[in-house]
Amino acid sequence: MNPTESKTGESTTAQKQPDLTPRAVKDSASEMVELVLPNDANPLNALLGGRLMHWIDIAGALAAHRHSRSYVVTASTDHLDFLFPVRVGDLVIFKSSVNRAFSTSMEVGIKVFVESYFTGERHHVSSAYLTFVAVDRQGKKLPVPPVVPETSEEHRRYEDAGRRRELRRAEKQRKALAASKG
Ligand SMILES: CC(C)(COP(=O)(O)OP(=O)(O)OC[C@H]1O[C@@H](n2cnc3c(N)ncnc32)[C@H](O)[C@@H]1OP(=O)(O)O)[C@@H](O)C(=O)NCCC(=O)NCCS
Repeated sequence: MNPTESKTGESTTAQKQPDLTPRAVKDSASEMVELVLPNDANPLNALLGGRLMHWIDIAGALAAHRHSRSYVVTASTDHLDFLFPVRVGDLVIFKSSVNRAFSTSMEVGIKVFVESYFTGERHHVSSAYLTFVAVDRQGKKLPVPPVVPETSEEHRRYEDAGRRRELRRAEKQRKALAASKG
């Protein structure tokens, strides 16, 4: 361990240069499991949508941290649908990985399942795409390593992520133009 690094590898004195070695999707793949408790639910014992969004953000950040090996901030969340109800006592499983990295940003895909631990039955609850930007301690943007897709599914997600990025950029420009016109 370098004397300027803590046990977790974080630089304590000098600013570490980001390691831009390309990384495989499996290097960022993460799984998070939450047990739904009464404090996560509405009076009908159904999971609050806001709580699910909070967990999606954390599950997405796990993959972005693992890919970039840096701090990250959430830049945006795409459209979210809730496809299947989740109740108190259910397990919620979040699978996340970086679909594609650009200069400082990464698109992370998060797939959410609900599982009954009595039957082991799983249902797809939601899928989300979040964009994270790598930053240093001062909030300055940092370059991120490229993603190397390996499987056909990873190649498909990589290509789709490029198309979604163009849509997001167009939407951002449209909003900026609308705002400038008052
Ligand atoms: C997100 C943030 C870092 C972008 O920085 P910026 O200087 O405004 O933006 P830039 O135009 O230089 O873009 C930086 C990168 O973010 C991406 N980005 C910016 N806004 C984005 C958006 N709305 N959706 C997706 N990506 C976005 C850009 O495409 C760019 O990616 P690239 O470097 O890979 O090409 C900055 O706006 C920020 O810090 N926002 C607050 C984040 C935060 O606090 N999140 C927690 C929730 S409150």
